[in-house]
Amino acid sequence: MYRKFYLILLLTSAIVLLAFSIVATVKEVTPEWKQYQSEYKEMFIAKAKDPEIAEQAKSFQIGHKQIYLNTLERVDRCMNCHIGVDNPLMAGADHPYKQHSGNYLDNHPIAKFGCTVCHDGQGRATNKKEAHATDLDTHWDTPILPAKYIESACARCHDKEMLKDSGAEKVAQGEMLFREKGCRGCHKLAGVGGVLGKALDGIGSQPKHYFSLRHVEGDKTTYAWLQEHFVDPRAIVPDSEMRVVLNGEEADLLTTYVLTIKTDEIPKQYRRISNYKDTPADGESLYKMYCIACHTDGKYSIYDELFKRTIPAVMSPDFIRTIDDAFLKKIINDGRKDTQMTAWKPDAAGLTDDELNRIVTYMTRNRSGEKPAPFGYSNFTVNKKSGQEIYDVRCASCHGIMARAGEGYLGIDLTNPVIQSADPEFLAITIRDGRKGTTMVPFGAKGLKLSDQDIADIVAYLRTFAQMKHNQGNMK
Ligand code: HEC
Ligand code: HEC
Ligand code: HEC
Ligand code: HEC
Ligand code: HEC
Ligand code: HEC
Repeated sequence: MYRKFYLILLLTSAIVLLAFSIVATVKEVTPEWKQYQSEYKEMFIAKAKDPEIAEQAKSFQIGHKQIYLNTLERVDRCMNCHIGVDNPLMAGADHPYKQHSGNYLDNHPIAKFGCTVCHDGQGRATNKKEAHATDLDTHWDTPILPAKYIESACARCHDKEMLKDSGAEKVAQGEMLFREKGCRGCHKLAGVGGVLGKALDGIGSQPKHYFSLRHVEGDKTTYAWLQEHFVDPRAIVPDSEMRVVLNGEEADLLTTYVLTIKTDEIPKQYRRISNYKDTPADGESLYKMYCIACHTDGKYSIYDELFKRTIPAVMSPDFIRTIDDAFLKKIINDGRKDTQMTAWKPDAAGLTDDELNRIVTYMTRNRSGEKPAPFGYSNFTVNKKSGQEIYDVRCASCHGIMARAGEGYLGIDLTNPVIQSADPEFLAITIRDGRKGTTMVPFGAKGLKLSDQDIADIVAYLRTFAQMKHNQGNMK
């Protein structure tokens, strides 16, 4: 009785096992690529009219088509499926049988270059999922590049100067955007730039697990992360302080460019890099590269919700005619501690002193010849107590009071050491005349009618801030 039961059990499991191994063997004998190749052969035979070519088509052998690239240290088997890439008869066929577009393979013979130097993907893999590696669960760091970013690959071997008019215009356009949108205002590249964000060296070689892909909507790849992050940084990294305004097309171009910033070196014999030198950037280009992302054109002040402070109008006529070059340069050099305005002096940002001077010259290019009327601070006998009383009522709502430091400012944190070192004349004139294009209105006779004595008292009070902050620090 029991015996019979076990016999049946044994038989059924044997049959199931057999069925599984048959399926497995068939799959092994006819993997994906073999099917593509036999379909390709049929198509080839059908298309071949010329007797010589027809002969070639008939004698096409199904089997591994792999390219060994010793110098590049890779083996590419993409042609197992993309079998028609070099067959002109396949110009109108679908992928993966289709002939390669353009003259890319003429300029880069398959036997010498393979496919992955341009396309990425996993060269050795023989099924599509592993070869393309675009799914999150494939363990390969460089999935195939989407067609819209493929030009980034050209810069691995060619210089951008040559590519501008040889099939990779997008790299040059992306680089232009990188300069003009002020990315280096917050990111260093090759040691030069701001520090609010990380240095971007090698960013194009980062594997996908470097980024958090949680909020990415498209493919879970580095490429999609970059593109979507450029369009809307906060959608990908909540609370990001990255200030950029880019449309989708610009984000594509920037992604193409950023993907060229790689660390991996292509062997010398594969590279075509000429030794051209960039012409030194003029003041306007430097301002765009390093300052424009935050200060825009400098005419108006902007309250930034993420920075929780105002980004001042650094080229407002009132500011420019009140400040002298030396103090302007000092502000830029030292930055403003504990704010997003980081220091730009050579050993902090990597800019040369000469470049900083060019920025100053550019910012002050429209300075009016007419100097503001002097205030004569040293002629006043000042009363700090009275200055404090006025400050608390008229100024603290925007500029903050000590206890609220760090909470956010509609004005500017006036306790900053750089402001503390300002000439009292500069402070007094600013309060008296205000700054057009900003919420800092004139408080003098032409505005809110504080007397010069009141203004002098406030300035005297402002100048004690550094001392107060210092004492407050000691109390903690
Ligand atoms: C097992 C077969 C197979 C292998 C191996 C394979 N591919 Fe493909 N590939 C396909 C098929 C099929 C398509 C057609 C579009 C689709 O189904 O995704 C395709 C489409 C493409 C496309 C264009 C469409 C897209 O998804 O962007 C590119 C580029 C591409 N393959 C590159 C490569 C590269 C590079 C390799 C080698 C690393 C490779 N493929 C290896 C089968 C394969
Ligand atoms: C020198 C760089 C380079 C090499 C090497 C190269 N390709 Fe391409 N490939 C490109 C470029 C660039 C495009 C996009 C062409 C276009 O948009 O006109 C492309 C397009 C393709 C496409 C179509 C993509 C699409 O979305 O329609 C496929 C498939 C493809 N290549 C496969 C291959 C295979 C397979 C190899 C290896 C035999 C290879 N490529 C070698 C640069 C290259
Ligand atoms: C792996 C390095 C490498 C990549 C990637 C690469 N090229 Fe090339 N390219 C070369 C080399 C090397 C030559 C010279 C031909 C040779 O040595 O066989 C060349 C030749 C050319 C030529 C012919 C003119 C000349 O200077 O000889 C053009 C045009 C060209 N490449 C454009 C491109 C474009 C566009 C891309 C991106 C789609 C690209 N290349 C990607 C290395 C590369
Ligand atoms: C106002 C400052 C600021 C500007 C301007 C700015 N970024 Fe950022 N960027 C950041 C900050 C802060 C982060 C970190 C938070 C995040 O990932 O969004 C960041 C992150 C990045 C990352 C991810 C880096 C990594 O290692 O995780 C890239 C790539 C990037 N930025 C590129 C750019 C490019 C390209 C531009 C120019 C269009 C630019 N950024 C402009 C501040 C800025
Ligand atoms: C990441 C954003 C950011 C970048 C990039 C940046 N700044 Fe600023 N800048 C600020 C903020 C915010 C303040 C106000 C700080 C404060 O509250 O004290 C400021 C203040 C200033 C001031 C003081 C203005 C005043 O009214 O006293 C000057 C001048 C200035 N920046 C010039 C520059 C220059 C020149 C560059 C480029 C080399 C630059 N900034 C780059 C954010 C930035
Ligand atoms: C409605 C808000 C507001 C009020 C009220 C206000 N300010 Fe301002 N203040 C600002 C803004 C915004 C700026 C930055 C202007 C710019 O973009 O250059 C500024 C700039 C300044 C500066 C120049 C700082 C620098 O870095 O160059 C001084 C000094 C100053 N304010 C003092 C005062 C004093 C004193 C009072 C009160 C009598 C006062 N402010 C009232 C908003 C205000």
